[in-house]
Amino acid sequence: MEGKGGKKGTVCVTGAAGFLASWLVKRLLLSGYHVRGTVRDPEDRDKVAHLWELEGAGERLQLVRANLMEEGSFDDAVWGCEGVFHTASPVVVVKSDPKGEILDPAIKGTLNVLRSCKKNPSLRRVVLTSSSSAVRVRPREDFDPSVPLNETSWSSVDLCQRLQIWYPLAKVLSEKAAWKFAGENQLDLVTVLPSFIVGPSLPRQPCKTVSDVVDLLKGKTDGFAWYGRMGYAHIDDVASCHILVYEAPAASGRYLCSSTVLDNHELAARLAARYTWLPIPRRFDNPLRVESPFYDLDTSKLQSMGFKFRGIEDMFDDVIESVEELGRGLTSILPREKNVV
Ligand SMILES: NC(=O)c1ccc[n+]([C@@H]2O[C@H](COP(=O)([O-])OP(=O)(O)OC[C@H]3O[C@@H](n4cnc5c(N)ncnc54)[C@H](OP(=O)(O)O)[C@@H]3O)[C@@H](O)[C@H]2O)c1
Repeated sequence: MEGKGGKKGTVCVTGAAGFLASWLVKRLLLSGYHVRGTVRDPEDRDKVAHLWELEGAGERLQLVRANLMEEGSFDDAVWGCEGVFHTASPVVVVKSDPKGEILDPAIKGTLNVLRSCKKNPSLRRVVLTSSSSAVRVRPREDFDPSVPLNETSWSSVDLCQRLQIWYPLAKVLSEKAAWKFAGENQLDLVTVLPSFIVGPSLPRQPCKTVSDVVDLLKGKTDGFAWYGRMGYAHIDDVASCHILVYEAPAASGRYLCSSTVLDNHELAARLAARYTWLPIPRRFDNPLRVESPFYDLDTSKLQSMGFKFRGIEDMFDDVIESVEELGRGLTSILPREKNVV
């Protein structure tokens, strides 16, 4: 979206130091936007240093303090912004308190951000990062596995509660709450529903998703065994998709953002065959594995806007290239243009 006078305007990214948000900030800065990022502690050098190293950060990045659990905390961050990308939400394994650790920050936090958006007369559009987890958790008898799930599908709240899978529950309830609020308050809301995000981490401290991927590549399967069947998306595609649906005037509703969907056994076998020098198992023996029914995802809504997804190989090549200790041997399989030192 062009701001006043044809220039890119100012946008806010919540949780700017996170895995996805950092890549989104990078892409927004490269596109010429002024970015106001929220972080819980802007003085925490370990968490924010990578953002200050981004091209354009010195001139067009501002970091402000905000916490999802403090009412009104986002008022200043959002004020004067034409767009708000709300990505902040806990991506954690719950230890003991689902409500406090994940559900309240996700649901109440989203409403807190949207209330700040409502007070801002400059606002044009909010892009909320939801998840394919808000689409794909459905009882086996409730859908036809031969028909790919699309944006009309919602994960079952009952099933998530019954299985005590708190992350999908947090995502489905927070997205539903956002749509209700936007409808009642005439906010222009668009949601992006990425599947499992794979790609290089800009933050120095790896988030849960990145740790699970790197662990798998090192032969540890505990984290991944839980995932069952999953869609995968390259982090750069997910960031670009957020900007595409923000800028396209006609964009509306939900957008699934996902490349290939694979059973975790298929994923492991493909990775083990490609990265032969890594100790990746070809199968998961872990008894913790959650059974997930076959499903596919229909991403034609996004693709009809000209969007093209990178494949699994690109995602994992880019992770491996970014983690020095894993990269030995990669030069022999990468295409020539990637072998430039
Ligand atoms: N990773 C995936 O595969 C994936 C897939 C689909 C959707 N998503 C969604 O993408 C978004 C970003 O996830 P990510 O993978 O990038 O995870 P991440 O790196 O852990 O980022 C989560 C962000 O949420 C912020 N946050 C958590 N609790 C907060 C609170 N109380 N107040 C303010 N900020 C808070 C964190 O801030 P701090 O930096 O201060 O901790 C962090 O910046 C989430 O909405 C997630 O559900 C992720």
